[in-house]
Amino acid sequence: MNDAIEQLMAEHRLIEEVLGSLAAFAESLDPDHENARPTLSAFAEFFREFADHCHHGKEEDRLFQAMARHGFDPSMGPVAVMLHEHEVGRQHVRRLAEIGGRNGPLTTSEADRVRAHAREFVPLLAGHIQKEDRLLYPMAVQAVPASEMEGLAAEFETFERTAIGEENHARLHQLANRLIQEFPPEQTAPSPLSGCPSAIQSP
Ligand SMILES: [Fe+2]
Ligand SMILES: [Fe+2]
Repeated sequence: MNDAIEQLMAEHRLIEEVLGSLAAFAESLDPDHENARPTLSAFAEFFREFADHCHHGKEEDRLFQAMARHGFDPSMGPVAVMLHEHEVGRQHVRRLAEIGGRNGPLTTSEADRVRAHAREFVPLLAGHIQKEDRLLYPMAVQAVPASEMEGLAAEFETFERTAIGEENHARLHQLANRLIQEFPPEQTAPSPLSGCPSAIQSP
């Protein structure tokens, strides 16, 4: 497997763990707990900075652009579906961040909304990751010449170093590990996805 794709798939494994952790947090949410809002803000920060800015930045501004040069129109088909799912996920994270950023203990209705967002966002992003691993990335490897894929791996490194920063990147990994330790994901087998391209359906 190509370095760029390996890097994206390694990021998927961390994102999956934090998704499991968010589900555990949301389902055990105690509105009276004084750390409920800061913890929610920490989850939102991880998904905004690592999953979106860093990981989706590599996909949207680099991998999908390379795919577009080799026949994958970003306005339709599988890349359009991925872009749409990124945007829906962003909206959930924004709502979670808003609730996390307020003062005082969570109200019951806020706790209900956190659970509702988590119940939509976690399966959305987990399913999205499965589609990329099993369908979209293999399509990219087939379509984009190996030399261009090697260039992508170098671009990813530069992007990570300059736009994210090594220190910030390490801090986001620490943040993820802290959340996973505090709210361990339930150990369940990943749901099987029918392994055919029709599993990526238009938005
Ligand atoms: Fe994606
Ligand atoms: Fe991804």
